[in-house]
Amino acid sequence: MAIKKGLFITIEGPDGSGKSTQIERLKTYFKEKTYPVIFTREPGGTKISEKIRTLILDKENREMADLTEAFLYAASRAQLVAEVIGPAIDRGEIVICDRFLDSGIAYQGYGRELGDCVRAINEYAVQGYMPDLTLLMHIDPQTGRARMKERSLDRIEDEQQAFHQRVYEGYLQLEREYDRFVGVNADDSVEAISKALIGHIEALMRERGFL
Ligand code: TMP
Repeated sequence: MAIKKGLFITIEGPDGSGKSTQIERLKTYFKEKTYPVIFTREPGGTKISEKIRTLILDKENREMADLTEAFLYAASRAQLVAEVIGPAIDRGEIVICDRFLDSGIAYQGYGRELGDCVRAINEYAVQGYMPDLTLLMHIDPQTGRARMKERSLDRIEDEQQAFHQRVYEGYLQLEREYDRFVGVNADDSVEAISKALIGHIEALMRERGFL
């Protein structure tokens, strides 16, 4: 287990939860501050992981086996942990990551119904770096889907409603299991959601002596 000096915060939620808008707002907010906050995302966040992202989300790859998908997400994660998250946490910095292992458990474990093997696959990938705080965007999957109507969907987003329903139930199950989860009402105004997210992040920073 790694000895952690920094803070590791993840933002999770179903597709169409407004997560991307909120991450952009968080970036703007923390840019004006002096404390060291690094933003990254999954799948992606490094040159290699972004290539894996393209491979996974490409709609042409219809024949991708569920297990291959789980391994590719884990491979992208292993690179991000090795190259970005691990070193930043070890330097005592604050990392805010758009999705992490909980996405794997929700999407591949529950959505694809691969179950516990997702945890096993990822055990080595994360090298003991697990979030201190996970902010979960609460949104009914149907509402989330309706919000995405205007854009072209990637291979995962394009899955059927039942898949997205299982993903959301997976998230709610994880929230019941782990104290590090904090739910945020993603059906609220953009302003109110931002305020809630910043509030939770700064509360943890204060608690750990970063503020
Ligand atoms: P994004 O649209 O939030 O950037 O995420 C890309 C898609 O990848 C999204 O539909 C969720 C999915 N995903 C998984 O299925 N498993 C994972 O482990 C991660 C990190 C994302």
